[in-house]
Amino acid sequence: MGWGGENFKKRSDMTDYNVIRQYNFPTTIRFGAGVVKELAGHLKVNGLIRPLLVTDPMVAKLDFFVQIKDDLEAQGIFVAVFSEIHKNPVKSDVEKGGVAFREAGSDCIIGIGGGAAMDVARAIVLRIHHHRDLFDYDDLIGGDQYVTEDVPYFITIPTTSGTGSEVGRSAIISEDDTHRKRILFSPKLLAKIVFADPLLTMDLPAFVTAATGMDALTHNLEAYLAKNFQPMCEGIALEGVALIHRSIVTAVHSPGLESRSEMMIASLMGAVAFQKGLGVVHSLAHPLSSLLDTHHGLANAVNLPYGMRYNIKGSEDKFRKIARTMELSGETGTAVVDRLFELNQELGLPLHLRDIGVTKDHIEELSDLAFADFCHPNNPRPVSREDFKKLYTVAL
Ligand SMILES: NC(=O)c1ccc[n+]([C@@H]2O[C@H](COP(=O)([O-])OP(=O)(O)OC[C@H]3O[C@@H](n4cnc5c(N)ncnc54)[C@H](O)[C@@H]3O)[C@@H](O)[C@H]2O)c1
Ligand SMILES: [Fe+2]
Repeated sequence: MGWGGENFKKRSDMTDYNVIRQYNFPTTIRFGAGVVKELAGHLKVNGLIRPLLVTDPMVAKLDFFVQIKDDLEAQGIFVAVFSEIHKNPVKSDVEKGGVAFREAGSDCIIGIGGGAAMDVARAIVLRIHHHRDLFDYDDLIGGDQYVTEDVPYFITIPTTSGTGSEVGRSAIISEDDTHRKRILFSPKLLAKIVFADPLLTMDLPAFVTAATGMDALTHNLEAYLAKNFQPMCEGIALEGVALIHRSIVTAVHSPGLESRSEMMIASLMGAVAFQKGLGVVHSLAHPLSSLLDTHHGLANAVNLPYGMRYNIKGSEDKFRKIARTMELSGETGTAVVDRLFELNQELGLPLHLRDIGVTKDHIEELSDLAFADFCHPNNPRPVSREDFKKLYTVAL
């Protein structure tokens, strides 16, 4: 009897071994304190001298941003800056960025900032040589088939530790009028190189550190639980959970290079892992940003314990592993959920939706939007519209 004989117990989350799958892992990542100083040299080696720096209006004023711009200019590089973007970026931000690229005669794009800035930068990368309506490229309607042309050289520099957009292939951009989130996706939109420098996050305020960090934790947890067969991503996701659980409280309340570095690499790992899929928590969170302009990480943080409680049924073994990874005394899903509530409390984040402006009157519309969202089809446990309504009601 071979290894696959009658004693071999097939894991419930494994699917058909006859199916051929593709696994892509991301691009070159230069990681470490001070690594952003390599930027000018990298541009020159690649014959690039006119970068368009895409950021948000807040980051554009921060000392480290001004320093990066000054350093580039001191080395003979002609820098243009585009920073007219919304907190939850919209299509017109991308169109304006495309105009800025052409007017400046830019030869490459550098997305520097949080997920919002990097997503707009990535969408501008698409915009330059692709001339259909931007949302014709929406992945959910098969738009990636139109991403056929070359794209400008693209570099990402994260300054928050949350979305992991720096290693992503997609940009989340909203419609200007409805604020509905659309996804632009193509492997061509992956950055050629990432400069991940934890020093850029040293002055990130406590609230942003907490909210973005909980987004990263949500990515790792949801990716680990997502139902596709992708064991490499599961390994990365579990280590991401371990790093965040070990560092997030310190990164928020008494930050140092160690905790900020661990948060930065773990957020990057979360985004590598979530090519496996996300789940119910992101579907609960997205409508809050669309309807109430809630920050993405904050929306995830509040919903995370509720969504994870929903997921325990059927995933008990995986929750046991999560509990061990988090070094909890109880090795159950309930212990994980309790710890997530406690973590939000320790980080000064709200525990209820009412604390972030949600009322009973919002629940019907939120439930419609959540059910229409693209993330929950990968959730390990199916989620109906009625389930979303119950989850919002309990979290209220
Ligand atoms: N592409 C993806 O895969 C993906 C995944 C998840 C979320 N997103 C998108 O990412 C966005 C959220 O990104 P985020 O959570 O990084 O938030 P963010 O980009 O909105 O940044 C949060 C705030 O922090 C400020 N900030 C950024 N860096 C700073 C620094 N070093 N010091 C001080 N302040 C700083 C910004 O100005 C902003 O006010 C949303 O638009 C969301 O839709 C994208
Ligand atoms: Fe997210």
